[in-house]
Amino acid sequence: MKKIMLLGSGELGRELTISLKRLGCTVIACDRYENAPAMQVADRSMVFDMLNAAQLRAHIQSVDPDLVVPEIEAINTQVLLDVEAERTIVPSARAVDLTMNRDRIRDRAAEIGLPTAKYGYAENLEQMLSLYEDMSCKIVVKPVMSSSGKGQSTVVAGDMATAQEAWHHAVENMRGDRPKVIVEEFIAFDYEITLLTVRQENAETVYCPVLRHKQVDGDFKISEQGTFAMGALEAEAQAMAKKMTDDLGGFGLFGVEFFIRGEEVIFSELSPRPHDTGLLTLYTQNLSEFDLHARAILHLPISNIAALRSGACHTINAAQASDYYAVDGLAEVEAMPDVEAMMFGKPDAYPNRRLGMVFAPDVETAIAARAKITLSYER
Ligand SMILES: Nc1ncnc2c1ncn2[C@@H]1O[C@H](COP(=O)(O)OP(=O)(O)OP(=O)(O)O)[C@@H](O)[C@H]1O
Ligand SMILES: [Mg+2]
Repeated sequence: MKKIMLLGSGELGRELTISLKRLGCTVIACDRYENAPAMQVADRSMVFDMLNAAQLRAHIQSVDPDLVVPEIEAINTQVLLDVEAERTIVPSARAVDLTMNRDRIRDRAAEIGLPTAKYGYAENLEQMLSLYEDMSCKIVVKPVMSSSGKGQSTVVAGDMATAQEAWHHAVENMRGDRPKVIVEEFIAFDYEITLLTVRQENAETVYCPVLRHKQVDGDFKISEQGTFAMGALEAEAQAMAKKMTDDLGGFGLFGVEFFIRGEEVIFSELSPRPHDTGLLTLYTQNLSEFDLHARAILHLPISNIAALRSGACHTINAAQASDYYAVDGLAEVEAMPDVEAMMFGKPDAYPNRRLGMVFAPDVETAIAARAKITLSYER
């Protein structure tokens, strides 16, 4: 029986824990707060600061896991690089380290020849403004260390005042202590996708059917699968995902994000772990992205990935901060044919925090189902 130390215990961690436990694993779920979603279904839990090197090192030592499985980006990756000689980091310490900061993975993608948006880095306001002037196009400014669209903003060409605000917004919302932003050409894409890509020890890399998704303010709200066709571009995205994941190495599922503009497939970013837009696979596939990650990291065979039905999902986000919230409308949602709600079990709310999701046969129905859910914050 394998002992798994899960670093990050949100909704993705919860589903991964369920998949791992079905395969007989013991899971120790870790996060910075108590009663996080994965902790509610794991064998044991631990609360500590995973960015703190000494704490992370000591806890890995004391748990002595067979596999360390990062589920979030905010982890001290140097510790993972240091301990990899003695134990397995999923998918590899290098992959986790390179993807923690946007700049490193972006540079690597460009080095191995994947098409990306034009980009540059800035470590102070002056550098950022001069990059903006040189690029002379609409840009997206993002902190190199952040997720879920935090600190991200868009600036049209020739608007110095907004460009300055973008710098301050990025720096105020970044993780880490050294200011650094990526200034990226804005891609007016037709749509964007996640390609869930599974690297296996003794078998070829396999892919899930592509997920198309919609983000609002850089944060994922809707994804769909099986409801559209990409034609030959799907194989092109697969080839690019294979190149990138082979370069990173290790075994497991990766979420590879691309922009599609006309006939162009443009690499955006990558998660070396299940992806939030892939929660939909719980509804659509024989093996969800969590089942696939679990099998790949345990070196179990994946005989086939089957799409059982097409579908769409819509996130349920909190409107305000509260240590309590009640969910209304579940009965109406469940009464809709082939519609399912899923709450994540997060103990409290803050503005825009993702608390749950609805699954439906198509986007329109998912939006209608989401509209039936109301959250109230008074006891
Ligand atoms: N260069 C760009 N051109 C157009 N849109 C962009 C660009 N970069 C980012 N976006 C939009 O912002 C979203 C979030 O960006 P990105 O994935 O880089 O950030 P993130 O904070 O890591 O988000 P997440 O953690 O939710 O994946 C993208 O999915 C896309 O919708
Ligand atoms: Mg993203």
